[in-house]
Amino acid sequence: MQQLVIASNNEHKIGEIKAMTEGIELLSLKDIGFSQDIPEPFHTFEENALAKASAIYQFSGKNVFADDSGLCVNALHGAPGVDSAHYSGERDDEKNLQKVLQGLTGAEDRSAFYKAVICLVWDGEVYYFEGICEGEIITGKRGDSGFGYDPIFIPAGYDKTFAELPLNIKNQVSHRGKAVMKMVEFLFNKEKPL
Ligand code: IMP
Repeated sequence: MQQLVIASNNEHKIGEIKAMTEGIELLSLKDIGFSQDIPEPFHTFEENALAKASAIYQFSGKNVFADDSGLCVNALHGAPGVDSAHYSGERDDEKNLQKVLQGLTGAEDRSAFYKAVICLVWDGEVYYFEGICEGEIITGKRGDSGFGYDPIFIPAGYDKTFAELPLNIKNQVSHRGKAVMKMVEFLFNKEKPL
């Protein structure tokens, strides 16, 4: 089975992606002996995903992909966006989510979307896969699963938050699920089969 490194320390992301990548041996950063934080200094998902994937490719020489993702709220002019992981100033899901709820106090437009960009470095070539999931932000938290902003985000076409929906449904409609599906399709259809 082909090996592919996932350039993330986020256990939730890794769990979601593992459920969608049967037939590929995913290696974690721990598996390849990488224990530092990878900087994400840029202002676009694409640049941050490339930064993470290239750092790990340079370290390991192995095929690798990185996901950079976030929640973009229309009434907040796209915030938290690339700053989703530390919107409140801290890497704290609860504080970040409360800041979004506060920012939307009294807002009529509660529409938002999640975006994920995957950067894959495969045999030294760089490829991108994107996924978007439209939805809306509710006024209080609902549900216990998922992570990040999931308890306040309802995907379009559903009446439950991502924290209330089972993982198989989240993976079918989520930003990350769509981006991962595109990458998996690409990997299995290349000339050199996995
Ligand atoms: P990254 O590690 O810089 O890509 O940060 C992603 C951040 O965006 C996470 O820490 C969450 O705050 C948010 N995020 C991205 N995808 C999701 C998701 O599927 N559910 C909830 N929050 C998410």
